Amino acid sequence: MNVFWLYATIILAGFSVKAHLNPTCNSNDSMVLQHFMNGMESPIPGWTSNSPNCCDWDGVTCAFSGPIPTGLCINSTGIRVLKFGENHFRGEIPPEFANCSFLEHLSLDANYVSGIIPDYLLSLPRLSRLYLQDNELIGQLRNSYPSNLVYLDVSINGLSGELPDFFHTFPNLTYFAAYSNNFDGGLPFSLVNSGSISRLILRSNSFSGLIDLNCSSMINLVFLDLATNKFSGAIPDNLPACSSLKTIYLDGNKLTGRIPESFKRFNSLSHLSISSLNLKNLSVSLQILQHCQNLTTLVLSSSFVNEEMPSIANLRFKMLKNLLMRRSNLTGTIPLWLDGLTKLTVLDLSSNQLHGQIPPFLGNLQSLGYLNLSTNCLTGGIPKSLTGLTGLRFLNTSLMINLNLPVFKRHGMSGKKVPCSYGIPLRRTLDLSYNSLTGQIWPEFGNLIYVENLNLKYNKLSGNIPGTLGNLFSIQIMDLSHNNLSGEIPHSLVKLHALSNFSVAYNALSGTIPSGGQFSTFPNSSFEGNTGLCGEFFTKCDKVQDLLQPSAFKSKNFSITYLVEWVGFGTGFLLSVIVLLVIPTIREFQIEEL
Ligand SMILES: *[C@@H]1O[C@H](CO)[C@@H](O)[C@H](O)[C@H]1NC(C)=O
Ligand SMILES: *[C@@H]1O[C@H](CO)[C@@H](O)[C@H](O)[C@H]1NC(C)=O
Ligand SMILES: *[C@@H]1O[C@H](CO)[C@@H](O)[C@H](O)[C@H]1NC(C)=O
Ligand SMILES: *[C@@H]1O[C@H](CO)[C@@H](O)[C@H](O)[C@H]1NC(C)=O
Ligand SMILES: *[C@@H]1O[C@H](CO)[C@@H](O)[C@H](O)[C@H]1NC(C)=O
Ligand SMILES: *[C@@H]1O[C@H](CO)[C@@H](O)[C@H](O)[C@H]1NC(C)=O
Ligand SMILES: *[C@@H]1O[C@H](CO)[C@@H](O)[C@H](O)[C@H]1NC(C)=O
Ligand SMILES: *[C@@H]1O[C@H](CO)[C@@H](O)[C@H](O)[C@H]1NC(C)=O
Ligand SMILES: *[C@@H]1O[C@H](CO)[C@@H](O)[C@H](O)[C@H]1NC(C)=O
Ligand SMILES: *[C@@H]1O[C@H](CO)[C@@H](O)[C@H](O)[C@H]1NC(C)=O
Ligand SMILES: *[C@@H]1O[C@H](CO)[C@@H](O)[C@H](O)[C@H]1NC(C)=O
Ligand SMILES: *[C@@H]1O[C@H](CO)[C@@H](O)[C@H](O)[C@H]1NC(C)=O
Repeated sequence: MNVFWLYATIILAGFSVKAHLNPTCNSNDSMVLQHFMNGMESPIPGWTSNSPNCCDWDGVTCAFSGPIPTGLCINSTGIRVLKFGENHFRGEIPPEFANCSFLEHLSLDANYVSGIIPDYLLSLPRLSRLYLQDNELIGQLRNSYPSNLVYLDVSINGLSGELPDFFHTFPNLTYFAAYSNNFDGGLPFSLVNSGSISRLILRSNSFSGLIDLNCSSMINLVFLDLATNKFSGAIPDNLPACSSLKTIYLDGNKLTGRIPESFKRFNSLSHLSISSLNLKNLSVSLQILQHCQNLTTLVLSSSFVNEEMPSIANLRFKMLKNLLMRRSNLTGTIPLWLDGLTKLTVLDLSSNQLHGQIPPFLGNLQSLGYLNLSTNCLTGGIPKSLTGLTGLRFLNTSLMINLNLPVFKRHGMSGKKVPCSYGIPLRRTLDLSYNSLTGQIWPEFGNLIYVENLNLKYNKLSGNIPGTLGNLFSIQIMDLSHNNLSGEIPHSLVKLHALSNFSVAYNALSGTIPSGGQFSTFPNSSFEGNTGLCGEFFTKCDKVQDLLQPSAFKSKNFSITYLVEWVGFGTGFLLSVIVLLVIPTIREFQIEEL
């Protein structure tokens, strides 16, 4: 669930006060909420009948909507800050904003602002920060006068055409983001020679041509995201000359060839994301990249397709924390050189053709907190060493999973997925699903008390489900389906209060399905395909029927959202009431495919 925090802030010259445009609550809505509270067993903390303005109550959010107020700068030319972000403002950017000659900061992000970006806006004399992202703006970018802008974000709009060769008019621009628009054409000369830009984010457009940065000019460039465009040619070999450059995303372009030899000297490089490219020779590429002394994240998924996993013994990546090589149809085995990657927190080798056994040394990687070997051809038993994975046994902030990949959200009516930020939080994971693993699930798996996702489905595991799995108090997803497990489902699993997805379907289990706890919430499909299982909502167990009790409502987690639309003070307001009794943790877990 999204919680939109409203704030519309205005700061006037000479005053450093923030004037919040505070909406008041419609009395009818107030009454509805009072009735709702009266229906609860106890009053809702922070909700008080003493304050009739329900917009002041905890968890209640009222939002502004309607057109952007036009007259603001006509009567108060001294306005310096306008924060209208994350509301429901509609209509065009009004011409009267041209009078805002003292305006330094304007945010209109995450509204429904439409039309073009007016000519005057980018060169308002004092404007240094402009947030226009996530609106319905169309047309081209234009600017003819010197601009003071330091921060410009026009992402997630319908802007189109080529980027004008106008970046010399922005001598102080350090942040430029224009991702998720319809821009095309090449990168203009003044952009690839900008000495001020430090973060450049042009992901998800239709830019084409060569990536031809002038690193002698772009001395401040730190962060470069050109992913999901139509750039062609090779990965530019001059990038290491951009001496501040730390983070590069080139995924999903038409780039071909190899990693340039010059990358051996790319000392500033920390994050390299080159998935879904037509790259060749993984072996040589890794031998080059191992020389990047500051490299912490390497994303090579869906590149180097159909090659063999290099087994060169002496590969060393001393600093590498995140290695993603999924969906490349790589053959060979899990390589021994991974043993030297002592800092590894995230290892994803899923969706390849790797065969052989899981090497026991993986269990000794001190920091590993996300291991995905799903969808390969691995055989043999699960090495017992995996039950000792430090990253899943201890909660240690120095072992946080920090994957600087874009987080996507669904946007607008189209439901299109657009990137909205970086830094993907992953569940602590052991995913060995879709292989041909045999043998048992070690009782010592119960030691992995911080694992959040344990996925062993579609293997050939046999033996019992160990009762010790009841110790995995962090677990949210446990999928043991499609194996050959026998015996009973241990009653200890009822203790697992965070468990929301559970399946033991298609095994050889028998006995009574435990009842209570989260088990009251699992569908029948979690248990089907086990001829010996019975339970309250399943095949009835004659003997033990009395022991089972309805407990579906014991769980206290629930949340309610509803929207009340109303009209007041001559302006349309949208009141959205969000009641959060137990705030669910909202996280985006999937590593997105392009
Ligand atoms: C409250 O609801 C009544 C009945 O629908 C309506 O007549 C009245 O105008 C509403 N009051 C406000 C402040 O919206
Ligand atoms: C500006 O101030 C004048 C005089 O107080 C008032 O009549 C007018 O409505 C104001 N305009 C706006 C757009 O607020
Ligand atoms: C507001 O801008 C308009 C058009 O740019 C201009 O004619 C008018 O004089 C300005 N008013 C003020 C008070 O600056
Ligand atoms: C850029 O910033 C400098 C120093 O902050 C300032 O003096 C200069 O006027 C700015 N340039 C423009 C075009 O605003
Ligand atoms: C690259 O930038 C340097 C330094 O600003 C400049 O001297 C050089 O002419 C530029 N090269 C090209 C090809 O534009
Ligand atoms: C490598 O990383 C370290 C630590 O983050 C940093 O101090 C150093 O400047 C980096 N080296 C380069 C060449 O950027
Ligand atoms: C990779 O490149 C090296 C050196 O150029 C070459 O010896 C090797 O055969 C290449 N491997 C593949 C799979 O193309
Ligand atoms: C994956 O590799 C196998 C051979 O190892 C080949 O038969 C298959 O066609 C490849 N799949 C794709 C999608 O390239
Ligand atoms: C593991 O990889 C598979 C295949 O690439 C993917 O479908 C699955 O979501 C991944 N598991 C987790 C927990 O991310
Ligand atoms: C966390 O991990 C670091 C590095 O492995 C280690 O030095 C430290 O002792 C650990 N702290 C705890 C509380 O486990
Ligand atoms: C399943 O496990 C039982 C022993 O528990 C074994 O007899 C049987 O052959 C296994 N079935 C398969 C398909 O592996
Ligand atoms: C968990 O289960 C729900 C409902 O069955 C399903 O929609 C969701 O995709 C599952 N999540 C995961 C990560 O398996």
